[in-house]
Amino acid sequence: MAAALERVDGRSQPLTEPSIRAPGLTLVGVGPGDPDLLTVAAVRAIGAADVVAYPVAREGAVGMAATIAAPWIGSHQRRLPLLFPMVADAQPRIDAWHDAANQLAGTVAQGLAVVLLCEGDASLFASASYVLLAVAERHPACPVTVIPGITSVAAAAAAASSLAMPWPLALQQEGLLIRPTPDTLAELEALLEQAAASHWILALLKLGHRWSWVRQALGTRGLLEGSLFAQRVGWPDQLLASAAAMPADEQPYFSLLLIRQGWPEVLP
Ligand SMILES: C[S@@+](CC[C@H](N)C(=O)[O-])C[C@H]1O[C@@H](n2cnc3c(N)ncnc32)[C@H](O)[C@@H]1O
Repeated sequence: MAAALERVDGRSQPLTEPSIRAPGLTLVGVGPGDPDLLTVAAVRAIGAADVVAYPVAREGAVGMAATIAAPWIGSHQRRLPLLFPMVADAQPRIDAWHDAANQLAGTVAQGLAVVLLCEGDASLFASASYVLLAVAERHPACPVTVIPGITSVAAAAAAASSLAMPWPLALQQEGLLIRPTPDTLAELEALLEQAAASHWILALLKLGHRWSWVRQALGTRGLLEGSLFAQRVGWPDQLLASAAAMPADEQPYFSLLLIRQGWPEVLP
């Protein structure tokens, strides 16, 4: 555990003293990778939990969110891995969400404080959101709290800016569209046109295996230099680069792209 951190106004306990434990389910965004990017509220909620639940993609896997939060989880705390299979079929995923909701609400009904860890933010393309909906539908008496986390998009922009690649996400009248990378070239081209016309910055998640043809499309439009490629932000092997510097090879799942097609007129 890290050293105690006390607020100067004296209103709070040291960071390492968990807040008062109450039965309930707390969905906790743990940020993109760096354990220092959990919020104080996230660390407190984890510290106060009897049970720490986290998603895994297959039996016996460790889980990204659990790895990120590992320095904040005590050895005495019960761990509850929840299987969320990464498959295209709907039914196994629906079953997994219901099963997770049943397990979590059942544990809370025993009078326990339960946290469900979530990579990045708990409301942005997150398994935790499906659990939230399933618990609300099937276990409406289960108290639920959501603690937001730092998104991979915000972390990527901040990390680039900290590496002498200034990357404001949005300025003045610009918009920011965060969405999965389209599946086809035609969809991507339509999106780039809409974004250019509307002054939107695009944040494209789930880039990984689509990168080679996305790179080609950006190159054709002269957009590679103005785009940021970010991989495993916050992890020891983090990679941040101009999209122009990235080879066209397939990339890992934890990769994203920020695309800026112009700048406002009034700038320093
Ligand atoms: C299911 S979404 C989860 C988003 C997450 N809840 C958030 O708030 O950022 C997974 C996608 O987010 C992006 N992502 C998540 N963590 C990342 C990281 N540390 N570095 C780069 N991209 C990341 C990747 O594009 C990945 O395919």
